[in-house]
Amino acid sequence: MAPSRILVTGGAGFIGSTVIATLLKKSSTQAVLNFDALTYAGNLLSLQEEAKDPRYTFQRASVQNLEEVQRALEDFQPDCILHLAAETHVDRSLNHPQTFLETNVLGTGILLQATSAYWESLPLEKADAFRFLHVSTDEVFGSLGDSGQFHQDSPYAPTSPYSASKSAADHLVRSWEKSFGLPCIITHGSNCYGPKQFPEKLIPLMILQALNGDSLPVYGDGQQIRDWIYVQDQADAIYQAACLGKPGGTYFTGGSQEQTNLLVVETLCRTLEEIGPFVESGFYKKKIKFVQDRPGHDYRYSMDCRKTQLDLDWKPHYAFADGLRETVRWYLNNPAWVKSIQTGEYRQWMDENYGWR
Ligand SMILES: NC(=O)c1ccc[n+]([C@@H]2O[C@H](COP(=O)([O-])OP(=O)(O)OC[C@H]3O[C@@H](n4cnc5c(N)ncnc54)[C@H](O)[C@@H]3O)[C@@H](O)[C@H]2O)c1
Repeated sequence: MAPSRILVTGGAGFIGSTVIATLLKKSSTQAVLNFDALTYAGNLLSLQEEAKDPRYTFQRASVQNLEEVQRALEDFQPDCILHLAAETHVDRSLNHPQTFLETNVLGTGILLQATSAYWESLPLEKADAFRFLHVSTDEVFGSLGDSGQFHQDSPYAPTSPYSASKSAADHLVRSWEKSFGLPCIITHGSNCYGPKQFPEKLIPLMILQALNGDSLPVYGDGQQIRDWIYVQDQADAIYQAACLGKPGGTYFTGGSQEQTNLLVVETLCRTLEEIGPFVESGFYKKKIKFVQDRPGHDYRYSMDCRKTQLDLDWKPHYAFADGLRETVRWYLNNPAWVKSIQTGEYRQWMDENYGWR
């Protein structure tokens, strides 16, 4: 059943903002509450159009604050929670693991605690229809070799503080479901790309480095393999899981488009040459610079998404080259958004990590 009053945590982030835009396109959506702490990764400029919709409300608040979560639930009375709020960058989790424990583990625990008390207070029919959807990642299953795929029953084997904190959050979700009966769904997304992504992640980082005339830093030999999914496809999958997902269900929302990091950057260089400012042929590719690999860098992720595609009546629509073109076009056409994040903490991060001037 389509949810009508949806509380989205982390709605000012990359995937969350596209999820909110997607929800507001549905006539069944009566109200959306964006519950977001606005960390460095949250940006309200990503929701300028959506903010004009009378069904949309924003609340600046943290999932780590029990009282704020309780108040939001009481006031808003959701029939569905989409939990996306998290610390999400693996590199940051290596330098500052504590924030990941606080937000991803403690924050998810607090959200579950408040949600189950709220859910228990609902009349039977509303309690039956209620869904708590937790957005997780393929990284919780660890790293694969050249062959094989993760399946719904693959064991957890996280390798970074980020993936370990997301694994812990998944276990908390499952424990609330088993212990208290809370109707929970978990989606495991693959590497997502698209407009409005904070430029510390590979694709927007490379786009902005390239447009700035700087080097394109690729970890190690660039042969690590990721499965890429365009953000609109990911948002559609999350929506379908909220509508059709079964409590206790695990859904693999991957793009089924595996690429090495180096190939991603090379395709991006060609796309920038085609639709970006005029440069001589091969200009961007010459800027690729191999840098020291990330410690514990996972080699490959890949999920078998066939069951999810059938169960959720969903499949990704964007071919990687097309999604990449949309993404580059968006960054070229939205200088105000780019400017809004190129200050303060972002510049400091770039200085520390890439010597960005
Ligand atoms: N981006 C990907 O490739 C990817 C892949 C798989 C899964 N995921 C998962 O999807 C979710 C969203 O990812 P994203 O890339 O959009 O993240 P993001 O980093 O772009 O955004 C995270 C959002 O959460 C908010 N937030 C952080 N701490 C908070 C707190 N304590 N309380 C409330 N809000 C808080 C931030 O302000 C931000 O708006 C995350 O749970 C992530 O683990 C992401």
